[in-house]
Amino acid sequence: MANYKYIDTEVKDGILTLTIDREDKLNALNKATLEEIGEAFQEIYDDSDVKAVVIIGSGERAFVAGADIAEVSELNEVNGRKFAEVGQEVFASIEKCDKPVVAAVHGFALGGGCELAMACHIRIASRSAVFGQPEVNLGLIPGFGGTQRLPNLVGRGRALEIMMTGDTISAERAYEIGLVNQLVEDKAALVDYCERLLKKITSKAPLAIGMVVDCVNAAYEAEENGYQTEANSFAACCKSRDFVEGTQAFLEKRAPQFTGE
Ligand code: COA
Repeated sequence: MANYKYIDTEVKDGILTLTIDREDKLNALNKATLEEIGEAFQEIYDDSDVKAVVIIGSGERAFVAGADIAEVSELNEVNGRKFAEVGQEVFASIEKCDKPVVAAVHGFALGGGCELAMACHIRIASRSAVFGQPEVNLGLIPGFGGTQRLPNLVGRGRALEIMMTGDTISAERAYEIGLVNQLVEDKAALVDYCERLLKKITSKAPLAIGMVVDCVNAAYEAEENGYQTEANSFAACCKSRDFVEGTQAFLEKRAPQFTGE
């Protein structure tokens, strides 16, 4: 992986930890950080050594405290649209990644931080996590896909309330409403839990994991028929080596050895 200025990447046992590294600004996403995340995901798509990804914030206080308000304050109609489009594109590349991506959330996950967590496939949070979409306090709305993803995760009424009030949501409440998959005690437990979760997922057939992502995403694409995507993906699984290996291993009462082919 390349060297980046605002993010740090480290691969261990096939799991890439992508750390947002602007601790003095509570890991706020300036344009450069956003672009670096996008570039890192292009590398992740192509790097066969990377089997899974955890996204986490540096330091103890924040996952990501939102888009960088110093930069946001300078936006006009033209570059504001561009900023939202770049953010949406980068976050879509996370959501569409064929390798599992988990958000490990501790501390503030506000605005673009909450949206970044929502673009990941799974969210795990420590009890210190604080979620929210406070853009209305700035005369703005979420611009990196939040208006679309939040209703899918927590329901339309709750999403509207969260985005209209700008209120923060505790980790416990986020768990209650389905915004996060699992709560753990602290940052150390968070890292440990995410690693164990990803080890489990990466022990399954990689092609099938990628196709699950594809099919679930198809349900949210207006121009796609999710059932058709599912049938096509199911058929593609049936001609894979991993399908032969998985079914044979079951019948032979042994553990499967998947190769992703
Ligand atoms: N953009 C730019 N800088 C940010 C930021 C953001 N979204 N969030 C925090 N920071 C910076 C602060 O300006 C401060 O920098 P400084 O030390 O150079 O002044 C530093 O991070 C620490 O934040 P601070 O506000 O002093 O910490 P706090 O504990 O008092 O408050 C928050 C923490 C998260 C409640 C507060 O920083 C906040 O409300 N941030 C903005 C959240 C937001 O509206 N996000 C959506 C943006 S679209």
